[in-house]
Amino acid sequence: MTAAQPTGRLYGIGLGPGDPELLTVKAVRLIQAAPVVSYFAKAGRRGNARTIVDRWLTGAAEEIPLLYPMTTEHAFDSPVYVTALAAFYEDAVMVLSAHLIAGRDVALLSEGDPLFYGSFMHLYVRLRQRFPVTLVPGVTGMAGCWAVAGEPMTWGDDTLSVLPGTLPHACLVDRLRATDAAVIMKLGRNFAKVRAAVDDAGLLSRAIYVERGTMDSEIVMALADKTEGPAPYFSLILIPGLGRRP
Ligand SMILES: C[S@@+](CC[C@H](N)C(=O)[O-])C[C@H]1O[C@@H](n2cnc3c(N)ncnc32)[C@H](O)[C@@H]1O
Repeated sequence: MTAAQPTGRLYGIGLGPGDPELLTVKAVRLIQAAPVVSYFAKAGRRGNARTIVDRWLTGAAEEIPLLYPMTTEHAFDSPVYVTALAAFYEDAVMVLSAHLIAGRDVALLSEGDPLFYGSFMHLYVRLRQRFPVTLVPGVTGMAGCWAVAGEPMTWGDDTLSVLPGTLPHACLVDRLRATDAAVIMKLGRNFAKVRAAVDDAGLLSRAIYVERGTMDSEIVMALADKTEGPAPYFSLILIPGLGRRP
């Protein structure tokens, strides 16, 4: 009887918030060693993840872009979108599985941290029973953003809430009133609703808007001064805590 052929290993690699110098040493080493490098992108675009690693790729790896089927045409909770996305993830699993079965390691890139609202997770939960996996944490987008904003976020016994801007207005207001500090992600077309919720929670004067934090085109400004939306995909709102200080 012949021993089973060893499979490749899946590496889930956090890329940090955008600045190519904010990858970890481990992330760079593994990306340069992997025979296959895969990343998510919109059709027709190079994709932010691929841009972040541009200076670190040696050209030796086979690159596998995973192109989202659609992004803005349908609401994220519509049956058409959910079905298309599930099929997209299943196809991506088949493509990456073929490499792993053949014994090739696959580095799957993820902006920020791979286990924090990452598309990576949809493939990870489908692959982790079948293949060995190594996860490499990354600097989250929010950590990059509060660094460029230069504002301490949580003091003493402050609580921090991370809220998706996709929540309904009333829910956002309730959550904002109940927390000391907050990060509101996924603004995009939700921007006007989110800004109104921050205002209704009495927090507009403390809120900071960050667009493409740590990237070349970053913008940091008071949310009060950004009166018009929408906001780009890579944008979020920071509400620093005021907490207990000596
Ligand atoms: C799907 S989540 C992915 C989060 C990522 N895994 C992380 O660890 O930050 C995408 C959201 O993260 C936020 N985000 C991530 N990086 C950002 C950056 N550099 N500047 C502003 N917002 C960012 C935006 O709110 C965006 O809509």
